[in-house]
Amino acid sequence: MCGIVAYVGNKEAYPILIRGLKRLEYRGYDSAGIALLNDKELNIYKKQGKVSELEAFTINKNLKGNIGIGHTRWATHGLPNDVNSHPHFTTNKDIAIIHNGIIENYSTLKEELISRGYQFRSETDTEVIVHLIDDIMKTEKVDLVEAVRHALLSVTGAYALVVISNKHPDTLIAARKSSPLVVGIGKENEFYLASDATPIVEYTKQVVYLNDEEIAILDRNSGLKIVHLSKEEKTPYIQELELHLEALEKGGFEHFMLKEIFEQPKTIHDCFRGRLNTEQGWVNLGGLKDYHQKLLNANRLIFVACGTSWHAAQVGEYLIEELARINVEVEYASEFRYRNPIINEQDVVIAISQSGETADTLAALELAKSKGATIIGICNVVGSSISRITDAGSYTHAGPEIGVASTKAFTAQVTILTLLALLLANKKGTVSAAKFHEIISELENIPKKVKEILDKNNLIKEIATQYKDAKNALYLGRGSSFPVALEGALKLKEISYIHAEGYPAAEMKHGPIALIDEEMPVFVIATKGTSYEKVVSNIQEVKARKGKIIAIVTEGDEQVKSMADHIIEIPDTNEHLVPLLATIPFQLLSYHISVMRGCNVDQPRNLAKSVTVE
Ligand code: AGP
Ligand code: GLU
Repeated sequence: MCGIVAYVGNKEAYPILIRGLKRLEYRGYDSAGIALLNDKELNIYKKQGKVSELEAFTINKNLKGNIGIGHTRWATHGLPNDVNSHPHFTTNKDIAIIHNGIIENYSTLKEELISRGYQFRSETDTEVIVHLIDDIMKTEKVDLVEAVRHALLSVTGAYALVVISNKHPDTLIAARKSSPLVVGIGKENEFYLASDATPIVEYTKQVVYLNDEEIAILDRNSGLKIVHLSKEEKTPYIQELELHLEALEKGGFEHFMLKEIFEQPKTIHDCFRGRLNTEQGWVNLGGLKDYHQKLLNANRLIFVACGTSWHAAQVGEYLIEELARINVEVEYASEFRYRNPIINEQDVVIAISQSGETADTLAALELAKSKGATIIGICNVVGSSISRITDAGSYTHAGPEIGVASTKAFTAQVTILTLLALLLANKKGTVSAAKFHEIISELENIPKKVKEILDKNNLIKEIATQYKDAKNALYLGRGSSFPVALEGALKLKEISYIHAEGYPAAEMKHGPIALIDEEMPVFVIATKGTSYEKVVSNIQEVKARKGKIIAIVTEGDEQVKSMADHIIEIPDTNEHLVPLLATIPFQLLSYHISVMRGCNVDQPRNLAKSVTVE
């Protein structure tokens, strides 16, 4: 994962790097470091922990320099300590490097370099690159750019990296393969570099997304040059950012996660805005317009995703199979990519990803493409790698999601999948006009209904106080509420560190029921609909074992109320749209429990927002 930021121009680099690192901290927060070049001297500062600790550490240090690089780390190789922090540098400190990714052949390269006299300070894979560049310059007598190119031809794995050298005080050299990197073009040969556009947007809206195997040379005298690893020169494709700075701030909320939960009436609305029309009775996803037939005639739609996005895909499976009667499979991207799946030209593989950068999801798509399948992306981050490699796609338009726990991105993904299911069902004629109309007009009511649930925040907080010390929790749901239960459990475990599991309600008696005692909170989605009575029976089974029931019910429900320890009422809605509402109380419950337990809500331990390594 890791966040990368760099600057070359005529401003002081340090404040730009620190601000940028804070914006990128969601990508990793094991350690942070910077290298500043001033008067041909590279000053490198690195510190375990958050960017604020690096900031404290650098007070009273020499922070001068108009060119520099910065890194916030999510460790893959080596402990998260000061020494393993980036930047890594050559023995005589003339070249430094920051890296996001994994160098898979690092141990072979390391052994070779050690045998040639190089001494390693860190346990990271990254350090080999800097010594390799140094070695190539010395043995092959080539310049820095050429040495970087040669070094990259020798490494296997994934990288986004930036190189700085005191012999080149006006130049940064950057490159990417499978990890993201964006160049920001400021005024008069002033350049920014970052893992995503968030550190750049306050300075410039002109950006160039680097492609795989491209090297960018950013020089404050001669400008920007991009070459492929094969040496072929590329013309930079400059794009205009649509991102707004306010979207990156907390806007008065205590945490990003809370802000993002409360944004959902708007983000769900933004997601379907212009994509449906109740009066004329249509649903449209512009990005997929040339692929309708392909989708309708597909053998199977295969969703590939990870984490929360995988849960959204599960909801999509229920919706698409039920409404459009098209065969859907949902795969963990990490499993799919390594199990030699049977895929052909008749399959459509759809990746769901908030960041659009998840390494496994990207690789799954590449594999599907190589086997001839059509590949489609449902992403939130505009311009992300997945959105660029896919044949077609739809953006979720949820705006930047900074909290590591995904909330508004999930409901936006489910909204898109609902639209997709309706679009295909309508074209295929598998739903009646009346039902189609009923669902799309109810979808328009969802933002208002989400708002009504958010208004119950105090009640939900009160329930949270009673379960904040739980050691375990079970989440149950049936039908499309089953993935909502999985998502509820993931939200709780990732931000409050309480062990939680999601189960299809009926599966409980095949094992998890053994865990139930008077200490065990069981969160159940028991809204009105096809499996309501069955879920009621499951609740009875829990109560018979003295478990605590916290049930999400449809407004006005009396039956579950009489059995449950707590109920959270949600407005009545079409059964297909329940996931969009039922997930909200779970998000708030996890949020409050996390705050009450003193956990870091926005940056939970060991996690990072975009998982750009395997
Ligand atoms: C969700 O709360 C997670 N932190 C995580 O599971 C996430 O959904 C997963 O890493 C996938 O990310 P993506 O949507 O950016 O691909
Ligand atoms: N592999 C590098 C390290 O452990 C970078 C990690 C990453 O990008 O996640 O330091």
